[in-house]
Amino acid sequence: MNNYMLRNGSKIPVIGFGTWEITPNDKAKSMVAAALKAGYRHIDTAKIYGNEQGVGKAIRESGIARSDIFVTTKLWDDAQSYQAAMAACDESLNNLGLDYVDLYLIHWPKTTGRHEAWKAFEELQANGKVRSIGVSNYTVKHLQELIDQGGEMPAVDQVEFHPFIYQQQKPLLEFCHEHDIVLEAYSPLSRLSDTNSPEISDIAEKYEKSPQQIVLRWCLEQGTLPLPRSTSSGHLGDNLEIFDFKLAEDDMVILNGISDGKRVTWDPAGMGND
Ligand SMILES: NC(=O)c1ccc[n+]([C@@H]2O[C@H](COP(=O)([O-])OP(=O)(O)OC[C@H]3O[C@@H](n4cnc5c(N)ncnc54)[C@H](OP(=O)(O)O)[C@@H]3O)[C@@H](O)[C@H]2O)c1
Repeated sequence: MNNYMLRNGSKIPVIGFGTWEITPNDKAKSMVAAALKAGYRHIDTAKIYGNEQGVGKAIRESGIARSDIFVTTKLWDDAQSYQAAMAACDESLNNLGLDYVDLYLIHWPKTTGRHEAWKAFEELQANGKVRSIGVSNYTVKHLQELIDQGGEMPAVDQVEFHPFIYQQQKPLLEFCHEHDIVLEAYSPLSRLSDTNSPEISDIAEKYEKSPQQIVLRWCLEQGTLPLPRSTSSGHLGDNLEIFDFKLAEDDMVILNGISDGKRVTWDPAGMGND
């Protein structure tokens, strides 16, 4: 598995397995076990997904060295204060049954609390409970605020990212590249489930790949880290078959041009997260 390098020198596998809505815990355990068997070495969960216990069990029982699996979890909105964030991290580690996570993210930039939570994150990184710290659903404004504060910079910003919102996310992507922040692409495939895109279908046919594989490859070629989710063992294996081809420049231009701005999830700029 190829890696990106995070700003603190840690390696992060360039594709991760998403686990949102994979519940209950026994289902999460079996899907994460299937993902690890298929070759994923990067698992993305969150406290709010309600599946940390199943995810952790699959990791602990996989027979794969802990150091060979990159585990991310996230701090939910109800714990965005210094004390609550410290306690929430312990609770997530306890749920997962792990001594540390590789990456801990602030899930949403809540107006009250995100600054205090970030102070807790810096401490959690210093004391080794989390190896790297980052954010999710942060806009350029929120990232700039962290720069202005002068503390630790986030290693990662995990946001919705796929060709259908490329033009809207381009300034954020450029900002992340400029400041050595890895942009993780969430919900990379969801729009394909209900969108008929002739452009993506034509390109898929040309490369003899599926539309999903084309979009995941496009994410890599944008320098982002896709987090596909699947509950089908066939699909989760197919989603790793993206390292044996490269998209030509003119196909990237076509894919970059299909944005319609419609999101799968919520727009963090429109939620009062000032
Ligand atoms: N930080 C945040 O706020 C946030 C928000 C949303 C998501 N995320 C993270 O990002 C991950 C991915 O996003 P997502 O859960 O929205 O889902 P997604 O990966 O964009 O799409 C999942 C859908 O695509 C289908 N699919 C996957 N591979 C396929 C393939 N090869 N062929 C056909 N269909 C395929 C799945 O169906 P099957 O199950 O049938 O394969 C499922 O319906 C999440 O699980 C989570 O870890 C984070």
